[in-house]
Amino acid sequence: MAQVHNDKYKPFPQVKLTDRQWPGKTIDKAPIWMSTDLRDGNQALFEPMNQQKKMEMFETLCRIGFKEIEIAFPSASETEFNFVRGLIEGGHIPDDVTIEVLTQAREHLIRRTFESLRGARRAIIHIYNATCPAFRDFVFGMSKAEVIKMAVDAVHLIRQLAAEMPETEIVLEYSPELFTATELEFAKEVCDAVTAAWGATPQRKVILNLPATVEVATPNVYADQIEWMHRHLARRDSVLISVHPHNDRGTAIAAAELGLMAGADRVEGCLFGNGERTGNVDLVTLALNLHTQGVDPQLDFSDINNVARVYEHCTQLPIHPRHPYAGDLVFTAFSGSHQDAIKKGFAAQKADATWAVPYLPIDPADVGRSYDSIIRVNSQSGKGGISYIMEHDYGIVMPRRLQVEFSGVVQRHADSHGGEISGEEIWQLFADTYLNAGAQVRYREHHLFEEGGQQAIRLGVDINGVAHNLNGVGNGPINAAMHALTSAGLQAQVRSYEERSMVPAGDDGNASAVAFIEMAASGCGECYGVGIDSNIVTASIKALVSGINRLPQSAPQKTA
Ligand code: KIV
Ligand code: ZN
Repeated sequence: MAQVHNDKYKPFPQVKLTDRQWPGKTIDKAPIWMSTDLRDGNQALFEPMNQQKKMEMFETLCRIGFKEIEIAFPSASETEFNFVRGLIEGGHIPDDVTIEVLTQAREHLIRRTFESLRGARRAIIHIYNATCPAFRDFVFGMSKAEVIKMAVDAVHLIRQLAAEMPETEIVLEYSPELFTATELEFAKEVCDAVTAAWGATPQRKVILNLPATVEVATPNVYADQIEWMHRHLARRDSVLISVHPHNDRGTAIAAAELGLMAGADRVEGCLFGNGERTGNVDLVTLALNLHTQGVDPQLDFSDINNVARVYEHCTQLPIHPRHPYAGDLVFTAFSGSHQDAIKKGFAAQKADATWAVPYLPIDPADVGRSYDSIIRVNSQSGKGGISYIMEHDYGIVMPRRLQVEFSGVVQRHADSHGGEISGEEIWQLFADTYLNAGAQVRYREHHLFEEGGQQAIRLGVDINGVAHNLNGVGNGPINAAMHALTSAGLQAQVRSYEERSMVPAGDDGNASAVAFIEMAASGCGECYGVGIDSNIVTASIKALVSGINRLPQSAPQKTA
């Protein structure tokens, strides 16, 4: 249904800012972060966190490096009140962390909030009242002057209660709730009244938090609103502008980033975007976005899996597998062209150089993720991904033409079986195709010796189950072995030969040799044979045998 907007109650008021500066700005330092996981985030849970979970979350937030943490809405419930008391009385608040508590701008709630803070070293009292026309007219039935008075009365009371509790340094935060739906001139009027009532100075700043309580416009509109406030607020040097974007339109990250470009000093949000409805802005993504731009976010997500586990445990909410930076699949590529580029990017990446691997905006190691699952194979994958897994998991660097040949084998398997193919399955396909190829010829043993200045070999093989001792001479062991096999009627030519050492990942120095021989026989096409052994000559002879077994019509002409 189309929404018809009366001018006064339209979702967001017009912003008159023709000379906006924010589009030309970049973010070059971390903002002041404020985690509201234990308040806004907690309010949005099916099952709010109990004391134990709140404590676990609090400790995790401290470990990540948050210096301002909104821990509760103490006047809302005993649980909330007791949590604040527990943190203070238990001495759990690190010296460099300031706790924050929320209350509506109402006298009895403010008094109760102060009681919860007794004994704290420093605390931010966060008061709010809604300022937009719809709230003024329909919810509160208040004039603009009454809304201002409500905020200012609350500030006076807080000043008085703070003076009675000198052992606690009280910082004031004020939020004109539904700021984005409030006329800017009026939002400024309320905020300026609060700043004046608090007696804010550059040494004793007031935090003015300008929330997108409900996200109602594109992020550039929020940026305009923030820049307008940044340029018009009184005593700007005595004010910290804070943004608090919710994610109703799915653009909270952009809103926060543009808000910072527009002059904000501080950001409030939650881990992984928890919070009312579609959530608060996701502080993990915001921080790691900074990291990708070379700006130190001053938050430590170097063990993101641990943060994710704590979050899921405390909130009982899952993290989407494609959640930026943290989801299980975000460092995984299935598509063949992506895999190919990633594999080449990895090969070119120098340890101390700027990270530049295609399709991976950050080095997974920066957030404590391994490279193990970066490339996963399904029917969309190509030779790049398959050869990456063979190399990374099994230490086998395949020649390019073998990559093409083997990817066809994997592709056929994927097409017929569907779904993802694990590294183990790829290895099994490789072993079945090359290492245990066919049954006509089986290598048993060999003995090398010199004969008339040439390389001679005595080669023990089973051909169709019958043991043979074959002799051959040549200009090297492979040539001699080929001649020995040809003497048994096995027709094939060697087209190319490569050998490599093979160090499977995690195997310390336990190297084997792998030989790749590309073979052809007239009328039979070409194919690869592969042999693996701790001895390179044995690996090569096994590769010859593998190739002969794989050539479609190279079955022996004679068996004795
Ligand atoms: O979203 C919001 O407006 C809030 C206020 C209480 C700051 O959470
Ligand atoms: Zn909120």
